[in-house]
Amino acid sequence: MELVILKDSEQVAAAGAEHLQDLLLNKPNAVLGLATGRTPKSMYRQLANLCKESSLSFRDVTTFNLDEYLGVQPNDAQSYRSTMRRELFDDIDIDPANTYLPECAADQNPLDVGPDYEAAILEKGGIDCQVLGIGQNGHIGFNEPSSSLNSRTRIKTLTRETIENNRQYFEDAESQPQLAITMGIATIMDARQILLLATGAAKAEAVRQSIEGAVSASCPASILQMHERVVVLLDEPAASKLARLDYYLWVQNQKRRLLAKIASD
Ligand code: PGA
Repeated sequence: MELVILKDSEQVAAAGAEHLQDLLLNKPNAVLGLATGRTPKSMYRQLANLCKESSLSFRDVTTFNLDEYLGVQPNDAQSYRSTMRRELFDDIDIDPANTYLPECAADQNPLDVGPDYEAAILEKGGIDCQVLGIGQNGHIGFNEPSSSLNSRTRIKTLTRETIENNRQYFEDAESQPQLAITMGIATIMDARQILLLATGAAKAEAVRQSIEGAVSASCPASILQMHERVVVLLDEPAASKLARLDYYLWVQNQKRRLLAKIASD
């Protein structure tokens, strides 16, 4: 796990955008796993700007989003499809046919969505890089605490805490969905690399438990300790509860010096 601790959320967004830009320059037809939520918004803005300046293209990119509400239709303003269109898809040159979310059409059996989504990911060759946020309760996607660490894409019931955190996006409590379809934890772990972003003091405890706590379904993000290639981008408030913070900063510094040396040799 590589920890990168940066001053503020804007630096996290810039580092995330740079990471994905490098990946797409190396593999223009990469498959990206994407997340919604407050955390990646600014990174998406930066990616859209890079695309506008022609420094980056999504023409051959395929995306799979982590999750979608069940019972919300793609054109509804609160759907994650609409959110992704507003925050990224409409401002980049991606082919909308290559943007996937675990959506359930009105006439579809919701139990079929998960297996179909898994098959679609496999058919596209698997996810090269999965972008993740983290919930205050340690969830990744909508894999709430107690989710099986071996889970696949399926329907999940949201915790009251998650519903409360997302309350602001809905006009009234009645219209707010309590069910979602989310990639499973094993699906996320299949990605060839993972880029987790966390910003703000409200995430500090979840970040600490994920990175320094025991691997446990009680904190789904802790499973990332078992993944071979994870980059965690944190701002200072999100990193503030890490017990080994000094060590992580020292490692970061050593890496910077080593790369500078290699570049100058
Ligand atoms: P947030 O959500 O980015 O809106 O904080 C993250 C998450 O719940 O995974």
